[in-house]
Amino acid sequence: MARKDHYYNKAKQEGYRSRAAYKLKQLDQLENVISGGDTVVDLGAAPGGWLEVAAEAVGPQGQVIGVDLQRIRDFDDHDTIETLRGDMTEERTRERVIEAAGGDDSAQTGTATGTGGPVDVVISDMAPNMSGEYSLDQARSLHLARQAFETALELLDTDGDFIVKVFEGPDVDDFRADVEEEFQYVRATSPKASRDESSEIYFIGKGRLTSPVSSGDELEVEIVDTGTEGDGIASVEGYRLFVPGTAEGDVVTVRVGDVKPNFGFAERIDEE
Ligand SMILES: C[S@@+](CC[C@H](N)C(=O)[O-])C[C@H]1O[C@@H](n2cnc3c(N)ncnc32)[C@H](O)[C@@H]1O
Repeated sequence: MARKDHYYNKAKQEGYRSRAAYKLKQLDQLENVISGGDTVVDLGAAPGGWLEVAAEAVGPQGQVIGVDLQRIRDFDDHDTIETLRGDMTEERTRERVIEAAGGDDSAQTGTATGTGGPVDVVISDMAPNMSGEYSLDQARSLHLARQAFETALELLDTDGDFIVKVFEGPDVDDFRADVEEEFQYVRATSPKASRDESSEIYFIGKGRLTSPVSSGDELEVEIVDTGTEGDGIASVEGYRLFVPGTAEGDVVTVRVGDVKPNFGFAERIDEE
């Protein structure tokens, strides 16, 4: 067993359930993820150090929901924390989380389009049971990180933030690229409170992107700019929609096609 270290002792002294508490504090200090009044969902939350730090950060008006395979002991001094026992790789656990967060699992949950979900921040410190074989543990860690990402996409409100742990290794760059598509920016970091020998990194996704239009929508837009390929660009509530065959100043009716979180494509239908 690892020697009891600085953060282990600090957690004992300051009354946190785990030394991991300091990782979340450091991640939050770096990117201001959790604010007063937020609803936070914590995946892989046992024994509960992150839940305690999140509850302090959201304050009495906030809400913190923790999920783990293990039972999480009740918190006597934080009545804003609710816990669930379940496996995040199972759809029914995700449904229970959505329900606990005040969403219904159809209309309110976030997708790439439309309004976002009911949650401000999703954090995941999930880690597999260690087999000792690094490549296997790393693949399992990446699988859990992807489950957390899928959950975050379902739950997060527009502009919401996401923190996820993953072990360094193959396919992590692809995972980061996928997260980058859905957030304004992503920062990778290894907090000081991570053990020196640890290969864990955390991605912090800031500002969940959602688009105000959906594929198939028909609307009138004004072309306000020109893209590098010569396509006209319309702005819908600040969201950029590329419309081939148009020029700046045109007012045209379009049908929305492919929708990405931060831009989309539309075709002109007023000349059909
Ligand atoms: C490093 S610990 C989390 C520590 C926690 N952040 C804290 O501050 O106390 C990782 C947790 O992930 C949980 N976990 C692993 N796989 C999971 C899964 N499929 N669903 C839910 N929790 C999972 C484990 O049970 C374990 O408690």
